[in-house]
Amino acid sequence: MDVIIRNMRISDVPKITKYDLIMLGETLGDDLIKKHIENSDLMKYFVMETKEEKHFIGQVSLWIDEDKAQINNLYIVKDFQGKKFGHKFMDFIIGYFESIKIKEVTLEVRKLNQIAINLYQSYGFKAIVNRNNYYPDGENALLMYLRIGSD
Ligand SMILES: CC(C)(COP(=O)(O)OP(=O)(O)OC[C@H]1O[C@@H](n2cnc3c(N)ncnc32)[C@H](O)[C@@H]1OP(=O)(O)O)[C@@H](O)C(=O)NCCC(=O)NCCS
Repeated sequence: MDVIIRNMRISDVPKITKYDLIMLGETLGDDLIKKHIENSDLMKYFVMETKEEKHFIGQVSLWIDEDKAQINNLYIVKDFQGKKFGHKFMDFIIGYFESIKIKEVTLEVRKLNQIAINLYQSYGFKAIVNRNNYYPDGENALLMYLRIGSD
């Protein structure tokens, strides 16, 4: 199946906040995401969709600060999971980071989210900090870290 990854548009936002709630149980909300898309140099939002029919597959938001970045809210919607789209999104994200000379990347993941941890580990991310009772339901978070490049 051919897919594309593109910048998020303002017209995507209602769909994004709906899926944020389904996939993550929380959302930054329409107003803040729109503000980030319109104004923020720090936040980049990307959407994956099927090339022909434009079915929404997933999204990610990236926080960028000079040569450091954080991956936030990556998800692939249920019907498309387990089909390597997570890998495809991560390939894109790492390629994007390399293109803008990012050197250090962090992300937070639920400690019991083994699928996501496996995905991130396959790109070289290492768990560096365990944050106890981090989420509202009491689950721990792992802070994961990746260094890109050698210097
Ligand atoms: C985590 C997520 C993005 C992975 O996307 P995906 O498209 O389903 O994953 P892929 O098919 O590309 O598989 C990527 C890797 O995830 C892991 N994985 C996928 N399905 C798995 C399963 N059922 N069991 C264990 N590991 C699994 C594997 O490491 C796999 O790599 P491999 O196929 O080379 O072994 C997706 O499952 C998701 O959106 N989950 C809900 C939201 C979420 O947890 N987001 C992460 C927040 S930090």
